[in-house]
Amino acid sequence: LSQRVHMNNLESDSFIDYAKMKSTLDVVRSRLQRPLLYAEKVLFSHLDDPTQDLERGKSYLRLRPDRVASHDATAQTVFLQLMSAGLTDTKTPMTVYSDHLITARVEGIEDLGTAWGENREVWNFLSSACAKFGVGLWKPGSGIFHQVLLENYAFPGGLTIGTDSHTPNAGGLAMCAIGVGGGDTVDVLAGLPWEVKQPKIFGVRLTGRLNGWATPKDIVLKLAGLVTVKGGTGAIMEYFGPGVDTLSCTGMATICNMGAEIGATTSIFPFTDSMYDYLVATKRSEIAEYARLYADDLRPDPESESSYDQIIDIDLSSLEPHINGPFTPDLATPISEFARTVRENGWPEKISVALIGSCTNASYEDMSRAASIAADALDHGMPKSACKLTVTPGSELIRGTIERDGQLSTLKKIGGIVLANACGPCIGNWDRFDMPDGQDNSILSSYNRNFAGRNDGNAATHAFVASPELVVAMSLAGTLLFNPLTDDLKVGDKSFRLQPPSGRSLPSNGYKATSDAYQEPPQDRRDIEVIIPTDSNRLQAIPPFPAWNGHNAVNMPILIKTKGKTTTDAISAAGPWLKYRGHLDNISNNLLIGATNAENDRKNKITNVLTGKTGAVPATAREYKAKNLPWVVIGDNNFGEGSSREHAALEIRHLGGFAVIARSFARIHETNLKKQGVLSLTFVDESDYERVHADHRIDILCKDIAVNTPLTMVVRPKDGDPFDLQLHHSLNEAQIEWFKEGSALNAMAKGTAT
Ligand code: F3S
Repeated sequence: LSQRVHMNNLESDSFIDYAKMKSTLDVVRSRLQRPLLYAEKVLFSHLDDPTQDLERGKSYLRLRPDRVASHDATAQTVFLQLMSAGLTDTKTPMTVYSDHLITARVEGIEDLGTAWGENREVWNFLSSACAKFGVGLWKPGSGIFHQVLLENYAFPGGLTIGTDSHTPNAGGLAMCAIGVGGGDTVDVLAGLPWEVKQPKIFGVRLTGRLNGWATPKDIVLKLAGLVTVKGGTGAIMEYFGPGVDTLSCTGMATICNMGAEIGATTSIFPFTDSMYDYLVATKRSEIAEYARLYADDLRPDPESESSYDQIIDIDLSSLEPHINGPFTPDLATPISEFARTVRENGWPEKISVALIGSCTNASYEDMSRAASIAADALDHGMPKSACKLTVTPGSELIRGTIERDGQLSTLKKIGGIVLANACGPCIGNWDRFDMPDGQDNSILSSYNRNFAGRNDGNAATHAFVASPELVVAMSLAGTLLFNPLTDDLKVGDKSFRLQPPSGRSLPSNGYKATSDAYQEPPQDRRDIEVIIPTDSNRLQAIPPFPAWNGHNAVNMPILIKTKGKTTTDAISAAGPWLKYRGHLDNISNNLLIGATNAENDRKNKITNVLTGKTGAVPATAREYKAKNLPWVVIGDNNFGEGSSREHAALEIRHLGGFAVIARSFARIHETNLKKQGVLSLTFVDESDYERVHADHRIDILCKDIAVNTPLTMVVRPKDGDPFDLQLHHSLNEAQIEWFKEGSALNAMAKGTAT
């Protein structure tokens, strides 16, 4: 079998070496003596030490990822942390994608120009930092992280981490791709192994074949409805079964992308022929052939099925299109029941804006199938969509190709406004002129995430997600009550029924080459200086956090007791705040402003226990900090769900938070808190959440903190006797070191990180 091949067409010094991965895996095979699942093969072939403990849900795997990826909002902090730790180089190949900072206002070209005016100092900083650290940079307008990664860097059997929760998109090309916080990224870039609790592995067995209006998106929308937003927590979703071979590579990427919405560590498909075709189409034939040589290692072993921790069955042949939402991605409704559900719930029936694209659904196939619906409507004389329609291509490669092949002009003919190849409304970076804040309205998108306020900052916007085909079809009618499978559209006095969508998964004439999208790092980087303007309100060096004083933490106020969903959007809002990602003090003014206060059901209205006055959360935290008074947050279930946003942890630390005590945590946020030296604790008895109130004071007896040993919390009511509660923590030895040193970065700088 052949020796290594280049990992991509852009880096001359990074390689795929399946033979080496195989030999690491063989060590594990000889130990476990059982057939392996595909996800296990990928993880185990990247072990730093293949003789380490391996127990799902218990052991911490120490892994050597092949790559690291980041975007222009998260990369700022990554570089600032690398600089703060005194590093000058990166030990693992990394790329940065400039996709998050472009605000959607008018249309793509104009918006990109405006964004340059607004973000020049940040993009210049990233350009200089990428050059300094030897990192490849995808320039503004080149495309969205996950699409560009799929087009250029993902490969079967590979392991990548990325500072974005939709990094798992690359599972569509059989890569194990995991969303992490910036702290984990810094570890890997510094040459340390990446540590993660060994996930469980859930199998999703696909049988049959999609037909009619059903799409890959509907597979994951259905799955989200079956397992809920917490259903994948601590697990990898591994797809298997005969239905897998019927899907396109980009369709599988859509499914893996939205695995983030069920809290999965990642999602992954085994290597298939459609992945081979995609690699060839994206000019990576050498990798495609190489993967075929090692194909046995790029799929689960025969007879391994009994090793799944759980199996979920989905029959593609009978799958209906779904629409999920509003306000949560696991509220799944089949299209046949959707109109009735809308009426019963009193959701706004009129679609105010329909949006297609984003990293989830902006492939050539998606755009082609969406355009086929538009073409059908135009053929029947329909002049335009009944509501505003926006189109976000996933990358310049896609945009250029669908411009050449005609899909873009078809979508424009029905009124589609082509936005920049960037996140825009998906991350709330959307200057929405058409809807006053607070007004109830419905939007329908082919995006992935639909928490309140996510897209336009308006908590009254009911955001629904569906396939791009369905979004375009429903935009023609302009109402959520329209079912294109059973209802007719009207043009004048004639009516017609739309044909089911159709379209190729790959362009028959190949993808149209792009130019000026990528900045290659220079060979000689010694004289490059990283640019941080001293008077910037966007960029600020991160000073080290103080080390723990070694004592129990006593008499701490509760900053806020949150209720229900406290997503990372609620802890550190995006939208207009995105621009402060490189300036910790400024962005901290959004701390927890979206969280619901359990005491009064209001947002950003809490009582300052020192003054008794009602105030905003960030301002109150600053007042406690100014008095050297550490505080805690009490959280509900799955605290920090949603994204890898490390500012959600950094801000808590920066403004003086000592601990977050919750019923349960989302995985990435919990790790992020640990990295920043904040204790993440859970109630041993979940119902104790009810016994703690915002006017109580808290002691945490952490002086002798040790692995696997619960901590005692003393709760001191204002009037009444103190009482004790027991708290779990999940810190291992290394993580306790982070807590003691004040942060993982401090431990690394001191050389106590391992
Ligand atoms: Fe961007 Fe939305 Fe994807 S924010 S990376 S397009 S999930």
